[in-house]
Amino acid sequence: MSLPDKGRSTDELLAEIARLKQDDLPVRGGKVTAYVYDTGRPEVHEAAARAYFEMLEVNTLDPTAFPSVVEMEKQVVGAVAEQLGGGSGIFTSGGTESIMLAVKAARDSRETAGRPRMAVPVTAHPAFHKAGHYLGVVVDAVPVDPVTFRASPADVEAAITEDTVLVVASAPSYPQGVIDPIAEIAGIAAARGVLCHVDACVGGWLLPWLREAGAEVPPFDLSVPGVTSLSCDLHKFGYAPKGASVVLFADPALRRRAYFASASWPGYTVINATVQSSKSAGPLGGAWATFQALGREGYLELGRTTLAAARELREGIAKIPGLRVLGDPESALIAFGSTEDADGVDVFVLSDEARKRGWFLQPQLSYAGIPANIHITVTGVTLRGVEAMLEVIAEATEAARERGPAELPEGLVELVAGLDLDALDDAAFGELAAAVGVDLGGSGQPEMAVVNAVLDALPADRREAILIRFLSVIYA
Ligand SMILES: Cc1ncc(COP(=O)(O)O)c(C=O)c1O
Repeated sequence: MSLPDKGRSTDELLAEIARLKQDDLPVRGGKVTAYVYDTGRPEVHEAAARAYFEMLEVNTLDPTAFPSVVEMEKQVVGAVAEQLGGGSGIFTSGGTESIMLAVKAARDSRETAGRPRMAVPVTAHPAFHKAGHYLGVVVDAVPVDPVTFRASPADVEAAITEDTVLVVASAPSYPQGVIDPIAEIAGIAAARGVLCHVDACVGGWLLPWLREAGAEVPPFDLSVPGVTSLSCDLHKFGYAPKGASVVLFADPALRRRAYFASASWPGYTVINATVQSSKSAGPLGGAWATFQALGREGYLELGRTTLAAARELREGIAKIPGLRVLGDPESALIAFGSTEDADGVDVFVLSDEARKRGWFLQPQLSYAGIPANIHITVTGVTLRGVEAMLEVIAEATEAARERGPAELPEGLVELVAGLDLDALDDAAFGELAAAVGVDLGGSGQPEMAVVNAVLDALPADRREAILIRFLSVIYA
């Protein structure tokens, strides 16, 4: 683990990286239905990787030193703005950073008597909670409809106070892939004089192509009156390498609120559009090259195959005894849960069973009255393997039914709920986990059903404390 005494050859290093990656989930091929986005066109990813490499050492810190950064960023952001209703934007490292900047801009857009607040539907991404936590903006959680999983405009309106600086809606929200009623929510925000951010991190570079391919997609972008900012990740359905997102602002004056400059030290002048200061232009080069390599035609074709796969998958899942699709997703994100009848299964066991068969299906814990479920992000490559995916889901469901629900050692949930985490160091936590059969140091294909079932039984704040401890232990 330590620094070697002497430098090693590139071949040796690459061999070691291959070894380190041997237990990783595959990033290509469509068997991993979260985290990764595959076009199914290797030449596109190759072009992106080469452009990334070309820009790797360029530092975006000083745009006057590296004008290529300005030109590339203008082209990428310009293309996103052209597609999503205009505005002035910033290229960021991901959805979380785009959201962070939108929240900062809103916070700094006006003075509030009390602490600034934002109204956030419970299905919105935790990046808003993170932004609130980092930036001192209070999150007012807004419930969603228990059947459609969409935020209700009336509830959003009820959450607005004198100190509300931002209202949030998602297009779509990640958990169930449904689009909030953007026009109504943005209209309410405008009428109340509050800014409105549309989180289109996952949908911004997907929905327009799905619409063009024939899906019914309501207006959701900056062309909708009242929408003042929007986030769109290019490392999701833009299919760019990770580290690529755009945040758009309807008004350049609002974008300036996201910027930061400091001349309060004796060193070089600091002017940053993003949270990071020094950073590689690699992701920008990768995103630029992906846009150029695919073009409108490429994205539209990906939209067509994605739409076809999403429809086939939804219909197929609905036919599997014991499963039901949650809500009526307009996007390519599908969540399915268990039926509540005798056919029902433990979805966490189902996910483990799929993983044993070489497929990663993402488990989602129950929250705010929404039951535990499995999430699938359909991408450009899914269509080729959609039948195999449906077969695996059917087999894993059957296997989960045979196995029955995850068996929790008696008293485990109560034990975890009552743990005094401050009195427990990381080693003791790891030992405790091992004692109940959870190996936190292991690699390979972990059985997660017990862990998920325990977390699922705990309230959110307890889950968070346990997850932080989990992270600390795996990095021990
Ligand atoms: C709707 C939505 N917003 C924000 C994010 C956060 O994006 P990132 O992981 O790039 O920070 C995600 C990620 O899945 C998302 O789906």
